[in-house]
Amino acid sequence: MPNDQSSERGNWGSKVAFIFAASGSAIGLGSIWRFPLFVGLNGGAAFVFTYLVAVFFIGFTVMLAELTIGRHTQKSPVPAFKQIKPGTPWVLVGYMGVICGVFILSYYSVIAGWAAGYFYKTITGAFPSQISWEDSASLFAQFAADPLQVLICLAAIIALTTYVISKGVKSGIERWSKILMPVLFVLIIILAARALTLPGAKNGLLFYLKPDFSDFSPTILFFAVGQAFFSLSLGMGTMMTYGSYIPKRENLVSSAAWVCFSTVLIAILAGIIIFPTLFDTLQLTPEQFKQEFEVDTGLMFQVFPIIISKMPGGHIFGILFFALLLIAALTSTISMLEVPTAYLVDERRWSRRKASLAIGIMSFVLGVPSALSAGGVSFLTQFNYMRKMDLLFGNILLAVGGLFICLFLAYAWKIRNALDEISLGCKTFRLRPVWVFNVRFLAPLAVILILIFIRVLTG
Ligand code: PFF
Repeated sequence: MPNDQSSERGNWGSKVAFIFAASGSAIGLGSIWRFPLFVGLNGGAAFVFTYLVAVFFIGFTVMLAELTIGRHTQKSPVPAFKQIKPGTPWVLVGYMGVICGVFILSYYSVIAGWAAGYFYKTITGAFPSQISWEDSASLFAQFAADPLQVLICLAAIIALTTYVISKGVKSGIERWSKILMPVLFVLIIILAARALTLPGAKNGLLFYLKPDFSDFSPTILFFAVGQAFFSLSLGMGTMMTYGSYIPKRENLVSSAAWVCFSTVLIAILAGIIIFPTLFDTLQLTPEQFKQEFEVDTGLMFQVFPIIISKMPGGHIFGILFFALLLIAALTSTISMLEVPTAYLVDERRWSRRKASLAIGIMSFVLGVPSALSAGGVSFLTQFNYMRKMDLLFGNILLAVGGLFICLFLAYAWKIRNALDEISLGCKTFRLRPVWVFNVRFLAPLAVILILIFIRVLTG
């Protein structure tokens, strides 16, 4: 975030700077680890298409809503709600975002820690140049079940994130990510091209991209909407905070569209690497896969060593890929920690250092059971602790947050005011009637409906 150490609020230097920073928050493990995992768990292409529809109708809607509220108030979520509707319970939506930030950071950092561990492993040459599915899966299982390794990795990620936030050196990180994110993109394209040319790629592509609508179910809708919120960093006020730094002359509509587009693009490409590689290795048809294969939380970590082993110069590719994945994850953890830290700094007058340290320590403690739930401690593993945390905070509460943000904008602040704010930098908002309809009715209704299905899912 710009100029965060000065008392004056800074602004993004340009629209491009904002798009890079917001995409830095959005693009991360959500697109590269979580998206392929949910595609695998939810029957393939039907999920992919539902996700795209959810991003278009709900993700974009909430993204623009958050940016608009943020830019109008120039504040982080809790004070933003207070400013527009003082003395009302709407501020609770801001508090919910603060809580989500701490909890999501706790388990997200575990996965980011896995990426750090894999970065280290590729440097030290732990992956053989010819690696089978069984070997890769068992290497991952051993790693994730080793309490010492995963806890050290978790601590390292949280320490790094806390350091960046406490020093307010985010602008430096953002400058770097402007260079490094395009490199990640190029690397992903190269890996995707290799995956597509594997002999058994076709079945993977069929599973991934050819929808069979008999696969469609309320469960898919529930997870696809949750994934739209998670991957776009919506529902907890992150984008509100980012929006608060956008100058009035900038176009919020096209900014929101760019962030959605770049995030979806990376997610789709990640799937193009994972599924053709996986199907080539397993030699299964989509039907056999759905019936016989058990998709695991570590899917991405099981598949990447394989595709890397099939690249000429794979060792270097591996090091580069995991380094960039780590940076992509860090730009996301930083944005998560920013929301609770900004609350303590703005509202409770804590120093930035004390606030980030306190939240960092809390997230570490909360992250320990998640870190131990991938084989480290058997009852946590059986309980599927980390996946339950992700279900509650990453899927349900982000969607609930998004629901309230839409209701707040449409019925408390009023659409007219939001449109005035949007029009400052966007004279012709062609999708205006669609957005107004979505923010008033479609997005809230869709979220309410899928929340009703949770009872079906968990019952
Ligand atoms: N969007 C990030 C990702 O996909 O990796 C995760 C995330 C960041 C979620 C920030 C929520 C958030 F506020």
